[in-house]
Amino acid sequence: MPNWLKDAVFYEIYPQTFKDSNNDGIGDINGIIEKLDYVKDLGCNALWINPCYDSPFKDAGYDVRDYKKVAPRYGTNDDLYRLFDEAHKRDIHVLLDLVPGHTSEEHEWFTESKKAEKNEYSDRYIWTNFWIQGIAGHPYIGGEADRNGCYMLNFFKCQPALNYGFLNKTEDWQLSPDHPACIATREALKDIMRFWLDHGCDGFRVDMADSLVKEDDENKSATGKIWRNIREMLDTEYPEAAIVSEWSNPKQALKNGFHADFYLDHHGNGYNTLIRDNETAGGDHSFLKKDGNGDIMRFLIDYLPKYDATKNDGYISFITCNHDTPRARLTLGYDELKLAWALFLTLPGVPFIYYGDEIGMRYLDIPTKEGGYTRTGTRTPMQWDHSNNYGFSNAETESLYLPQDLSEDAPTVEDQAKDPSSLYNETKALIALRHKYDDLKADSSFSVIYAEKEQFPFVYRRGNLLIAINPSDKKSAAALTPEAFIKEGDNSGSQCKVALVHAIGECNIDGNSLTMKPQSFAMFELL
Ligand code: NOJ
Repeated sequence: MPNWLKDAVFYEIYPQTFKDSNNDGIGDINGIIEKLDYVKDLGCNALWINPCYDSPFKDAGYDVRDYKKVAPRYGTNDDLYRLFDEAHKRDIHVLLDLVPGHTSEEHEWFTESKKAEKNEYSDRYIWTNFWIQGIAGHPYIGGEADRNGCYMLNFFKCQPALNYGFLNKTEDWQLSPDHPACIATREALKDIMRFWLDHGCDGFRVDMADSLVKEDDENKSATGKIWRNIREMLDTEYPEAAIVSEWSNPKQALKNGFHADFYLDHHGNGYNTLIRDNETAGGDHSFLKKDGNGDIMRFLIDYLPKYDATKNDGYISFITCNHDTPRARLTLGYDELKLAWALFLTLPGVPFIYYGDEIGMRYLDIPTKEGGYTRTGTRTPMQWDHSNNYGFSNAETESLYLPQDLSEDAPTVEDQAKDPSSLYNETKALIALRHKYDDLKADSSFSVIYAEKEQFPFVYRRGNLLIAINPSDKKSAAALTPEAFIKEGDNSGSQCKVALVHAIGECNIDGNSLTMKPQSFAMFELL
């Protein structure tokens, strides 16, 4: 386990829309370099950069045409190597995005694979062996290749599935996961990883990590075997490199080699009930919605078994949002967001902040771009200041990659940095606390102190910190048990005093009783 992950607070950068350094309307690597001091000042010490490789951009770069080449619109490989270097000078680690399940249909491997003559890449993708034989239960394409077969898709039409085999073969064209061609796919993936790690990258966020072996890898034993093999390679050759999975099943992902796994927004799961439970009939019941009458137990019932089962294997990653998810500002106001970030930044695991969430950027209702569809509104250019195009780019406004928030009160870093009570300054203060207290590190202990069905507040311990949150618009109170005030490892049973170290709104502890004003958060240290 790379030690640096314990204190990591990630910042996700969508390269298209973070900072444009050459005024062509689209963000680039040099723009990211210009803003590294900003990231550092915010307190983030790690980056995840969405795919920045050569691509026809039919899925915003998740359709990779050349894994080892930076897309010209973002700059050159040398720019990216310089980014690694500049980031490291500031103690910032950099994860690239690895797309193992599919390539672009324009990838050279696929051009070769389509040929009628057998070659090294014929089995790199999943093909049937007759031109009108399809693949039951999967999207596939026929009629586009010289070879006599149809090929499987992994996501969009532009993304043919790489071949890692089938666990239970039912057709003669299916290969088993230990077939040399499937092993070759895995080894090709390692080769890509080594390439970037050798150039200074610190690891990868792994796209659709659970999507490798097909049928019937229900419990993901075969896909997991591949990742364990890759993890062995990392442990031997690059022990400081980290891999974070898009899997959202920590029991599977963390047991199979990943260091961290995202807790994604899936309807009804624990994460969803905290900030995005806004699609159910009868209103928004998110715990962090001030008038949502939420229920912390809906979160804990899902989260605690996952946390307990995996806390010795790796980390669960809470995200403020990502490039696939509506920004939380769609339904939450600044005060609600402050409390949401306070929760995510004080829970165990490795947190990820999506660019612009530190100022509460809006989700915009705009047309699709590069396969974004409803995700597009979350991918708009960063709002830095009040210069041209909010300081994102000096290009003509019409030629920006995506439009920006033109409302009068559109948030900017410039405005919020000046305002001590802003979401930006609160986020910064919370990140600073996370770095200051060992008890807030990814692997420090976590236990629930007070959580009752449909009640507020929610109170928990991280090491010797006692943390309480009342997101509701009503005041709340709780009588805490004596254990809440006993220091970790103290067997004498004596309760100690507490000191308030951080608060949002007003809270008070008198004896064992905690009272909290509406929409408040407090962190106490056991003395
Ligand atoms: C998940 C990525 O986050 C998403 O943006 C992409 O469209 C799909 N995987 C396909 O790669």
